[in-house]
Amino acid sequence: PANVGIVALELIFPSQYVEQIELEAYDKVSAGKYTVGLGQARMGFCTDREDINSLCLTVVTRLMERYGISYCSIGRLEVGTETILDKSKSVKTVLMQLFEKSGNTDIEGVDTINACYGGTAALFNSVCWVESSAWDGRFALVVAADIAVYAKGNARPTGGAGAIAMLVGANAPLVLERGVRATHMRHVYDFYKPDLMSEYPTVDGKLSIQCYLSALDKCYQLFCSKSEKHGKGHFGLKDLDAVLFHVPYCKLVQKSLARLMLNDFVRASEEERSLHYPGLEGFKDVKLEDTYFDRNIEKAFMTLSKMAFEEKTQPSLLVANQVGNMYTPSLYGGLVSLLISRGADELAGKRIGLFSYGSGLASSMFSLHVSLDTNPGSPLKHLVENLTHIKSQLELRHKISPEEFDSIMEVRELNHHKAPYTPQASLDMLFPGTWYLESVDEKHRRLYKQV
Ligand code: ACO
Repeated sequence: PANVGIVALELIFPSQYVEQIELEAYDKVSAGKYTVGLGQARMGFCTDREDINSLCLTVVTRLMERYGISYCSIGRLEVGTETILDKSKSVKTVLMQLFEKSGNTDIEGVDTINACYGGTAALFNSVCWVESSAWDGRFALVVAADIAVYAKGNARPTGGAGAIAMLVGANAPLVLERGVRATHMRHVYDFYKPDLMSEYPTVDGKLSIQCYLSALDKCYQLFCSKSEKHGKGHFGLKDLDAVLFHVPYCKLVQKSLARLMLNDFVRASEEERSLHYPGLEGFKDVKLEDTYFDRNIEKAFMTLSKMAFEEKTQPSLLVANQVGNMYTPSLYGGLVSLLISRGADELAGKRIGLFSYGSGLASSMFSLHVSLDTNPGSPLKHLVENLTHIKSQLELRHKISPEEFDSIMEVRELNHHKAPYTPQASLDMLFPGTWYLESVDEKHRRLYKQV
């Protein structure tokens, strides 16, 4: 099949949030640390009524209803997540209850796990399935979802939650470009979840940033050289109309775009350097691995890349700024944000670069080619139109005070893995159509209902 890629997208986020500016005051940190220093405005979070299964049930139901897709037309379903409730039973099998009425049980795929990277692995697997001899003509459905929560302390404001569902098939409006995918994987303890009884990760913040930036360097260099092999000339930022990143927090993404410009600078010839990077000759001998926390270089390339950031990356940060780090859906929340910020006509024919990072670590850079067809009723128009509700939905959320947020986190912390358990939070605030946890019985079996 030709032009395999993303055919439809659905994104959900929690119906309540905490204001980062209020969290700064409540946490007694200096004003601006979370809003300016991290670049975050609001953080979405879940009460004990929502868990990884309910988020996935909601996002799949929404996608199928919005696009009017038959449950029989799915031949593969795969979930990427790092929010683990069960060491054996996959979230995918929980989602099979949605398919029961249709009688369709012939659906490949289970869960894929590695920090924030699982969604990308699930997407790659699904694209491979459609391109393979195992493909039976049906769609693949990729679900990426997480509840990102941190223990009290400096990492807490970088939480978030959400879920995305992506329908994968042939003749897609967003096509995964072949032959250029670049991957970098290593063994490192930057962020991991060794305590199976806790929702919280063990995190070395500074190391995780260093790992993220070094993985970005590695993936980008490989992506450029693979693109050059495919005859795209000397490849660089100029060849990407938009660049999306995994978003731990928005400020790191702005630094990352600057980092790509630094990579271009390092790869450039002497002549190109003096032409395109005036005043930066002094940096010509820098070694990338010495510069992760180099203030001078960071400042110089942040300044130089300001316009490129505004053009190529800022439009992708809407959801991340408003909801926070959703872990596996984070990069794809960036794609949704770009689509609604720029619209189909502006994006037609463009190339989008994407960088996916999961601690531990697994990372890839790949690209999407946006279809040229923007006729009314075209797949691209349809895709974008079906996302226009996102902006108003963000405004429909309920604001919760930091005090209440804290006590809701405490309820989650105390009852995580408790059985039997009946959730305490009211259902009033949930968006219509949301699946929620009704109860957990003494054998840890979870029952879900829909608002
Ligand atoms: N006004 C403006 N900016 C401020 C202010 C202020 N009042 N106070 C601090 N800042 C700036 C700092 O200068 C810093 O900016 P810089 O990075 O450009 O220097 C930024 O705000 C953050 O302040 P720090 O003191 O560096 O923050 P801290 O070390 O307390 O925590 C961290 C940040 C490490 C990111 C923490 O939130 C964390 O561990 N998060 C989870 C891990 C993470 O997200 N890692 C990223 C990749 S892995 C992943 O996706 C999970």
